[in-house]
Amino acid sequence: MSLEKTDTSTCAGVEGGCTAVMLYDETKVPHFHKDRREFKFGEIHLFIRQKWSQGGVAAVVWDAAVVLAEYLDKNPDVVKGKLVLELGAGTGLAGIVAAMLGGHLTLTDRAKVLEYIQENVELNIKSLTTVPKVTELDWGKNLFQFSDPFDVILGADIIYIEDTFQDLLETLKHLCNRNCLVLLSCKIRYDRDTRFLSMMKEFFHINDIYYDSNKDVHIYEARKQ
Ligand SMILES: C[S@@+](CC[C@H](N)C(=O)[O-])C[C@H]1O[C@@H](n2cnc3c(N)ncnc32)[C@H](O)[C@@H]1O
Repeated sequence: MSLEKTDTSTCAGVEGGCTAVMLYDETKVPHFHKDRREFKFGEIHLFIRQKWSQGGVAAVVWDAAVVLAEYLDKNPDVVKGKLVLELGAGTGLAGIVAAMLGGHLTLTDRAKVLEYIQENVELNIKSLTTVPKVTELDWGKNLFQFSDPFDVILGADIIYIEDTFQDLLETLKHLCNRNCLVLLSCKIRYDRDTRFLSMMKEFFHINDIYYDSNKDVHIYEARKQ
């Protein structure tokens, strides 16, 4: 699959515009154009609303989120009863599944994206015993607002804009103590994506714990050194 620099019009509604956003050729990803997608993971059943033309990359479900949701469904103890924060949640799929599995979730993204997450939380509210909190977390900014000792940090397809790498790393360092588990579900598209993992390795122990060969998505587990 090819990745191309996108036309800025595809990122309408995303705060910060389209700076360095890379997208797939839309014609090759028809499911991005579906208004509503249905997902089943074991006993879990949910619907996610997508708004590609309004929100671009942040308003559609990426394979990395699907793979992370599948992984969590098979390993529910990772999130059950835990304080969990998702970075760059987009439509919220992975985090909503984590909440359905018994996690206490804070779903975060940039301000303009929060409405997509909130809408999907409300769409699935009947299946949620603990309703996730939806709040702004722009990487590297106002981190003092996040002082909870999170047990788990989730991120699906958030390593893709090199300009954000330092802020993303600072965010992970701020949010994590030594007991915190970070799960990053990643499609490695470019050398720069692995560069982020190298940057992380200065501060975190990282293991590649799962690979979905159909979707070409890795899940990395990281713990602060
Ligand atoms: C490729 S999308 C992945 C969305 C979702 N996690 C998924 O896998 O379906 C990347 C997400 O990272 C978010 N993001 C990008 N830069 C960010 C930043 N500086 N601060 C917070 N979120 C950011 C985008 O808004 C978007 O929701």
